[in-house]
Amino acid sequence: MLQDEQKALVAKEAVNCLLQQHPPYSILGIGTGSTVNLFIEALAPHATKFKGVISSSQASTDRLLQKGFTVLDANEVDSLDVYIDGADEINPEGVMLKGGGGALTREKIVASMAKRFICICDSSKQVMMLGKFPLPIEVIPLASQKVASYLEKLGGVVSLRKSKEDPSKNFITDNSGWILDVAGLKITDPKALETELNQIPGVICNGIFAQQKATQLIVSNPAGVEIIAF
Ligand code: 5RP
Repeated sequence: MLQDEQKALVAKEAVNCLLQQHPPYSILGIGTGSTVNLFIEALAPHATKFKGVISSSQASTDRLLQKGFTVLDANEVDSLDVYIDGADEINPEGVMLKGGGGALTREKIVASMAKRFICICDSSKQVMMLGKFPLPIEVIPLASQKVASYLEKLGGVVSLRKSKEDPSKNFITDNSGWILDVAGLKITDPKALETELNQIPGVICNGIFAQQKATQLIVSNPAGVEIIAF
């Protein structure tokens, strides 16, 4: 089965799980990325069963509105039952590395509002140790050089993310930040590194999701779909 077929399968399974487990008319947190796009597509026929959704990016918001969902402002909502999102890597404890799509800050905020985090991905994202995928770090543009020097001292190889549409320009996040992609970090203690990186002046958010780890993983592999609880 191709990776895209695996993503579609997991998106469909996530919709089935959600409709079975979740009380109707509640509010969902929705992430960002190609797997989430397939999830939105599969959930769209049920859009009106939910009171609303909190979105983690402008890209997801545009897609959700187009599909008939009510998108609410995070400030209007106290807490969420469930947040659903993909990941770039997930370890056996449910700790994730995220931000390949550049939406990590809002993803972490919405995830922090939710009681449960359901991660949806294909099995290529399952790793024993995080860090093969370069770690995305969103920074205030003014601080990018200072933050990059700090990360290099930790052994990281840092690249400033460029726009896919125009590689002569920097990638700009929904929060007007820049993204540093950091390869070569040894993430042996994800929680400690997440905390350390949060202390660097100018860092808006880093892509280690240890505090906001997954509580459930719905993962597809060529043989089918597996559900793992953490
Ligand atoms: C976006 C993310 C995504 O969840 C992550 O990049 C996975 O995306 P995809 O489902 O396209 O593989 O963190 O910021």
